[in-house]
Amino acid sequence: TWEMKDYGDMKIREVKELAGDSKVICALSGGVDSSVAAVLVHKAIGKNLTCIFVDHGLLRKDEGDMVEEIFRKRFEMNLIRVNAEERFLSKLKGVSDPERKRKIIGEEFIRVFEEEANKLGDIDYLVQGTIYPDVVESGTGTSAVIKSHHNVGGLPEDMKLKLIEPLRELFKDEVRKLGEELGIPHDLVYRQPFPGPGLGIRVLGELTEEKLHIVREADAIYREEIAKAHLDETIWQYFAALPNVRSVGVMGDERTYSHMIVLRAVNSIDGMTSDWSRIPYDVLDIVSRRIVNEVKGVNRVVYDITSKPPATIEFE
Ligand code: XMP
Repeated sequence: TWEMKDYGDMKIREVKELAGDSKVICALSGGVDSSVAAVLVHKAIGKNLTCIFVDHGLLRKDEGDMVEEIFRKRFEMNLIRVNAEERFLSKLKGVSDPERKRKIIGEEFIRVFEEEANKLGDIDYLVQGTIYPDVVESGTGTSAVIKSHHNVGGLPEDMKLKLIEPLRELFKDEVRKLGEELGIPHDLVYRQPFPGPGLGIRVLGELTEEKLHIVREADAIYREEIAKAHLDETIWQYFAALPNVRSVGVMGDERTYSHMIVLRAVNSIDGMTSDWSRIPYDVLDIVSRRIVNEVKGVNRVVYDITSKPPATIEFE
């Protein structure tokens, strides 16, 4: 749309004037807001922007490679990918409390980011994908913290960096339009919400590499089948979780004692409330069969039929 194009051009000029020759960094997660902000700033100042992508090993299948592909290859941006999976897993070893998991992931994220940023030397600005609803929300501060939302955008305060926040005046749908205007792939711009702590909160209780592998593979099958059934544009959010429960099953003549996968799918406007999606049984059937056949260590698939409230969308 012409409005978003003009708006984008104006913001690009603004950023160029403000930061032209300075060194600028951003934290890229592959999320919509940080991606749009980064591409916009890159159009303004090119190689003076360096993006740091902390891969905490809690991303969905192929997500890390996709981020690299888009930003390094397509946009030719300076991108540093830090593969920090082992580091995160070792910090999380033995930890099963959801809030502690979130806190550890959030803190470790900042630590890794800061280390990388320090290697780059003198930096003047930090790009953040703050959008208008974030500005309003943080201004009131009245809502009780049900889960601590460590957003992979809420970053180091003591780095004393000046902020560039080119999306501060925009609502989500405007950010998406701007993203498409800037040439970011549709799939990324319209992707479903994904929590900062990622699969770390979709494996309930203690994390292990094996459990992460199981949930990642199950989730990939689920997403593939939802897309095949053309439901991906109508369901607001859908994902697999691993409740860390084993149950008895049977395979051939053998008794199995393996993991359960929970499928979640919800419709929502803003994530504050939600209703569970009525996915056709036939689609659920294919997903369930494929998961137990293709993902080793799973012998049962269940579908979550609770709304929010009283449940939440995520499980932790
Ligand atoms: P809940 O589970 O609280 O989730 O009903 C509401 C929405 O928020 C997403 N979510 C997060 N998003 N960082 C995020 O950026 C987080 O830590 C986080 N935790 C939950 C969740 O996926 C849902 O869309």
